[in-house]
Amino acid sequence: MKIAIGNDHSAVELKHIIMEHLKEKGYEVLNLGTDSEESCDYPVYGEKVGRAVASGQADLGIAICGTGVGISLAANKVKGIRACVCSEPYTAKLSRMHNNSNVLAFGARVVGSELAKMIVDEWLNAEFEGGRHQRRVDMIMEIERKE
Ligand code: RB5
Repeated sequence: MKIAIGNDHSAVELKHIIMEHLKEKGYEVLNLGTDSEESCDYPVYGEKVGRAVASGQADLGIAICGTGVGISLAANKVKGIRACVCSEPYTAKLSRMHNNSNVLAFGARVVGSELAKMIVDEWLNAEFEGGRHQRRVDMIMEIERKE
């Protein structure tokens, strides 16, 4: 499975920690984020992650900025993306099981690296449950289609 990962200047170190963690677990990782700590604009990287997932270049995406909010908002503007900001593992797991999230976002200024790894693991190990949740996800995507 290929994971696209993107970040702004606030999350360079955490991005590399998560990349190593993913590689150790056998995932292929596509680094679409900045590797410089010079100030940059998170929408650029949210869009890159979103487009990689929406196009099928990657199976899932991880987006990290200071809070996870800005980069998730940008990723969510790409058609087909359901990016969720998760600061703890329970929400991350449920965002897959119920919301079929395809981009996980979190904040490098919010979560430490060990918590971030747990969030990533719970998210990747969870599976979409379908059923009534499929209907609700379809309703969300219908809003996007009407736009
Ligand atoms: C950058 O300072 C910061 O605004 C950004 O990383 C992110 O937290 C925005 O949502």
